[in-house]
Amino acid sequence: MNIKEEITGAINRVEDLGQMMLRNPKVAADLIPSAVKGYVLQQGKNDTIGIVSPHKTFYDWTYSNEGNPAFRELYRKAYRGQWNAEDLPWDTNVDPENMGDLAILPEKLHPMYGSKYYSKDPKHNMREMHDVYGFLLSQFLHGEQGALYAAGMTVEATPWFGAKLYGATQVVDEGRHVEVFAKYIIEKLERLYHVNDNLFVVIHALNSSPDWDIKFLGMQIMIEGLALGAFGLFYKYTKEPLLKNLLKLVISDEARHVHYGVEALRDYYTKEVSDKLRKDREDWAYEVAVLLRNRFMFYEIREKYYGDKISREEWERTIMNSEIMKEFRRSLFTRLIPNLKAIGLLTDRIRPHYEKLGVIEYETMKAADKLSLSELLAA
Ligand SMILES: [Fe+2]
Ligand SMILES: [Fe+2]
Repeated sequence: MNIKEEITGAINRVEDLGQMMLRNPKVAADLIPSAVKGYVLQQGKNDTIGIVSPHKTFYDWTYSNEGNPAFRELYRKAYRGQWNAEDLPWDTNVDPENMGDLAILPEKLHPMYGSKYYSKDPKHNMREMHDVYGFLLSQFLHGEQGALYAAGMTVEATPWFGAKLYGATQVVDEGRHVEVFAKYIIEKLERLYHVNDNLFVVIHALNSSPDWDIKFLGMQIMIEGLALGAFGLFYKYTKEPLLKNLLKLVISDEARHVHYGVEALRDYYTKEVSDKLRKDREDWAYEVAVLLRNRFMFYEIREKYYGDKISREEWERTIMNSEIMKEFRRSLFTRLIPNLKAIGLLTDRIRPHYEKLGVIEYETMKAADKLSLSELLAA
């Protein structure tokens, strides 16, 4: 690891936080403690960590399930949609360095593909690709672990009894997702990477917030919106049958989770909260969208294969223009922007910021709760 470059990277991120502070000091104050732990103290690099959650657990002794009927429908749908991880064909022989008709991802999705830095040796490139999707799938796994705990927190923190019952099914779903991704990564790929620092910051921020709606906004809308896009992208490109099978099952669960988030927040943000709080949430969502957009800079791949060949700045420039990042940005925002609109957080006040990011065009697409499974699979 190059210490000078690490320090430069940390300074750049602190500058980003300064920009955030100018945009909304309250949101910056909420996110900065998590950013310091992720970017400066690098707590995501530890093997284990405890994060304190100060939310209230909301008890309801009436057990009244008369609220939003969508929660009841989702709850029943979740029962019908359960599947057993053991039923997947785990005896499939997976070759993580196959770049032919069983390739896990096509070579054109290597972040350096097409650049002058990309090796001309196909055998070497196969090894690099192995790390590229090992890194990406590891981030999926870490997001799933975050989702498991966030789902548990929403069960406690949501004020609606129907939402608590549905949330219990999401806990089971996320446990299964952690199980299948961990098994695939550890047994089939043998490439488990640590959590990326941007993802760590977002997970930390929603975990340590006292507000129940931030748990939903951060996890069900933002991280799971991104996950739906990213899983769909992998599903579209992978030719490896075990992974394709696994992703299809996971995506069918994730669609319910995002729908749950939309149902939980829609009326709350449009009818119940003050203008001031809604504006803060618009800004929180925007800042997190920027963090998630920068989530896959593949520094881990640079460190392993390119550290002595490309400066950090040049690496970032090349990645930002790579095919895989274009695909990731598109898949992230095609899911996220319509969801933010559905919950009332894409107002005229915040729209210019998304316009500047070049992603406002996605607002006319359907929100995840309105998409069929085949539409979700066609990412
Ligand atoms: Fe999940
Ligand atoms: Fe989920």
